[in-house]
Amino acid sequence: MEELDRVLGGGLVGGEVVLLGGDPGIGKSTLLLQAAASAAAEAPVPVLYATGEESLEQIRLRAQRLQIVSRNLRVFSETDAERVIEVMEKEKPALVVVDSIQTLFWPTLEAAPGGVAQLRECTARITHTAKTFSIPVFLVGHVTKEGALAGPMVLEHMVDAVLIFEGDPQRQLRLLRAKKNRYGSTQEVGLFAMGDDGLREVPEAGGLFLEEHEGAVAGVAAGVALEGSRPFVVEVQVLSAASAFGVPQRRVAGFDATRLSLLLAVLEKHLGFQGSAWDVFLNLAGGFRSGEPALDLPVALAAVSSFRNHPLPERTALFGEVGLAGEVRAIQGAALRAREALRMGFQRVLLPHRNFKELPATLPAERFVGVRTLPEAVGHLLS
Ligand code: TYD
Ligand code: MG
Repeated sequence: MEELDRVLGGGLVGGEVVLLGGDPGIGKSTLLLQAAASAAAEAPVPVLYATGEESLEQIRLRAQRLQIVSRNLRVFSETDAERVIEVMEKEKPALVVVDSIQTLFWPTLEAAPGGVAQLRECTARITHTAKTFSIPVFLVGHVTKEGALAGPMVLEHMVDAVLIFEGDPQRQLRLLRAKKNRYGSTQEVGLFAMGDDGLREVPEAGGLFLEEHEGAVAGVAAGVALEGSRPFVVEVQVLSAASAFGVPQRRVAGFDATRLSLLLAVLEKHLGFQGSAWDVFLNLAGGFRSGEPALDLPVALAAVSSFRNHPLPERTALFGEVGLAGEVRAIQGAALRAREALRMGFQRVLLPHRNFKELPATLPAERFVGVRTLPEAVGHLLS
């Protein structure tokens, strides 16, 4: 699966042990069953999927739903780590999936399954076997309520890569990120969409993070975020309403709440908006999440557009970091972002002046507007 390979840094290395974390129900088992099936389709030896989480019947139903037919994919129900290792030694499979590491136990260790001692022992033993026979292994790990991988530090240090599968369970989109990667960067993001018949790879984000609107809408701005080497045009939505009580509400989905407060303070100071009189709700469309400073400019402009109840011009995209003095600062990857915005059909792109001056000559300069300050950007789009 190319989206998985991308996050792994080009694919799996023999003996590599990868921990896959994520909230329950996000699609970890689905992802790995699909990955195991596609590996099995090409491997000369079997691929093993050891499940302690689910019954074989449950896996069979999922495999049916995913239309997986493979003789080479062996699923077995096992919670005894010693047995898993025996099978690895005997069959020397092309790939092993353990779903999940928390359900395994080491029989001679007198500690409860799922506890740190068991996690450490089972992971160490499986990792050792993986390295000895050069077998790549995926370990599924649960995320606790606090958002950490259970037994986090223990496991993270023992494996070669830690991937996190995330997304809003109510929506289709799933993002795969690398938190640690011994054999590649941690910058790349894999994109998937969960459908009725499993996960579909999304090689191009396209308009995934843009919503359809009838005409221009106040409080909406198109930003361009960068995840690894991939640019995403993402819609920023701000709704503001006069605050009914003394303390204004701030609700943020997909963006850093502290950064929003900071941007509202900058708007108050440099453009005279009384942010404290407003409840402000901020959302990135399509369940996208980013803490990137490059989204400061679209967030600020979406807020101003909402305060004034006046839409930004259509077909305009923007990106840039906003400093405390209201200055618009240069960001990384401007040319990549600029190209993606044009490709997505945006007619005009607002960007930091310094980035504008350094745009490659191959890009049509007349479509770009370099801005030095936030008031200047507001003047351009909302005067
Ligand atoms: P699952 O892979 O079991 O999640 P995890 O292993 O991370 O707990 O996926 C569970 C959810 O995905 C479940 O709510 C059903 C949904 N799903 C689909 O929408 N389409 C599918 O084809 C499959 C297999 C699951
Ligand atoms: Mg599962």
